[in-house]
Amino acid sequence: MNIAIIGTGYIGLVQGVVMSDLGFDVVCIDNDATKIEMLKQGKSPIYEPELEETLKKSLKNGKIKFTLDYNSGIKNADVIFLAVGTPPLADGSSNLNYITAASKNLAQFLSKDSLIITKSTVPMGTNKKIKKIILDELKKRNMDNLNVSVISNPEFLREGKAVYDFLNPDRIVVGIDENDNKEKIKKEIYKIYEYFLKKQIPIIFTNLETAELSKYSSNAFLSVKISFINEMAMLSEKTGANIEDVSKIMGFDHRIGNEFLNAGLGFGGSCFPKDTLAILNIGKNNDCEMSIVNSTVKFNDDLKDILIKKIKNKLGSVKGKTISILGLSFKPETDDIRESPAIKIIKKLINMGVKIKVYCPKGMEKTKRELKNYSDFIKFCENEYECAKNSDCLILTTEWEQFKNMDLKRIKNVMKSNYFFDFRNMFSDNENIRNYFHYYPIGRN
Ligand code: UDX
Repeated sequence: MNIAIIGTGYIGLVQGVVMSDLGFDVVCIDNDATKIEMLKQGKSPIYEPELEETLKKSLKNGKIKFTLDYNSGIKNADVIFLAVGTPPLADGSSNLNYITAASKNLAQFLSKDSLIITKSTVPMGTNKKIKKIILDELKKRNMDNLNVSVISNPEFLREGKAVYDFLNPDRIVVGIDENDNKEKIKKEIYKIYEYFLKKQIPIIFTNLETAELSKYSSNAFLSVKISFINEMAMLSEKTGANIEDVSKIMGFDHRIGNEFLNAGLGFGGSCFPKDTLAILNIGKNNDCEMSIVNSTVKFNDDLKDILIKKIKNKLGSVKGKTISILGLSFKPETDDIRESPAIKIIKKLINMGVKIKVYCPKGMEKTKRELKNYSDFIKFCENEYECAKNSDCLILTTEWEQFKNMDLKRIKNVMKSNYFFDFRNMFSDNENIRNYFHYYPIGRN
């Protein structure tokens, strides 16, 4: 089966590479010439475990191609995946320009009945709009006799585990327009996702709007869970409770579940912040007050200020001090710094007159670009020891495994003072940590 994928971001690239490894013939289309060139040479523009190796293998086997040219990508495709970005606009709504443009473009080259599968996260009603855009373009070409179905198939993969999650999803959601031929589409889906059928992964068929909302509500719910536990963590600090034990105790209740209850410095990344803002915007447009998601977003923002206040309280003043930040990516095993809480804290501290030193196993290059206007106040270091050298305070912002193994005594010895704020509770159970540092984890002593 020939598959075309439009968009080579996290979703499109992972989908393309893994499906080519499963035996499909894949063509990935993107309008970024640099990216396409890199990919043709077997280099992944993003760091994601197993991705580059699989990409190289598929290129070698001739199962995957990359192109800027819609025509060559679309003409032989049996199915077309739409996986372009829907980044947030200033008012929180999703920018649908890329998906609109991709839909118009692909319609120029459709020559047979087609199944278009939307992977991008889009507000309710968007897939119907995509279909209208495609049909309008086909009309201009006098080809509106073609039978085109647009279905919604949201992706739930996590960065850093994208390849694994793609192959091991908890569920597959397929939203179908009530006017389309459901049975025919189901049969096609079973062919495309045969691998998952064999693994007995549940495939849920529903209407378009439900599939669209299911992605937003899953991400919003997980965001609520994180803000909830972080709020409890702040209360634990005031009352002498231990948030790690509270999480453990809550997690044993199978109705609550033990995941996404790790207190920290708040959620970041390309999905939770974007999707929670989008759902607030969709709520506003539909006259639905989304007060739970609203508080979640607000608390997630406020948390950085709460934590900075904690640092100020312990250090006295922060002005003129040197603070070392360990971890820049929004979570470990990725170089993605989008909406990273670490970057937000760095900007706030610099604005308070703090000199910053940073180190991250993967997030350095992207941060250099992101913080180029702050370059006088920030030093990028080779490793955690250089980062800690002569600093007054260390803040651990991302729980990279590498940091778990660092030599704490050596870190302490190179620092000027010995304040250590562990915003991921990586060392909260380490017996030595309090001998070396004024140590402050989240939500416990
Ligand atoms: C998320 C969803 O998990 C995925 O299903 C969706 O499709 C895309 O968005 P991702 O953004 O890759 O995936 O990251 P995730 O692992 O979910 O973490 C998001 C943020 O929450 C990170 O900043 C992480 O550090 C934070 N987090 C997560 C916590 O602070 N505590 C937790 O217990 C879990």
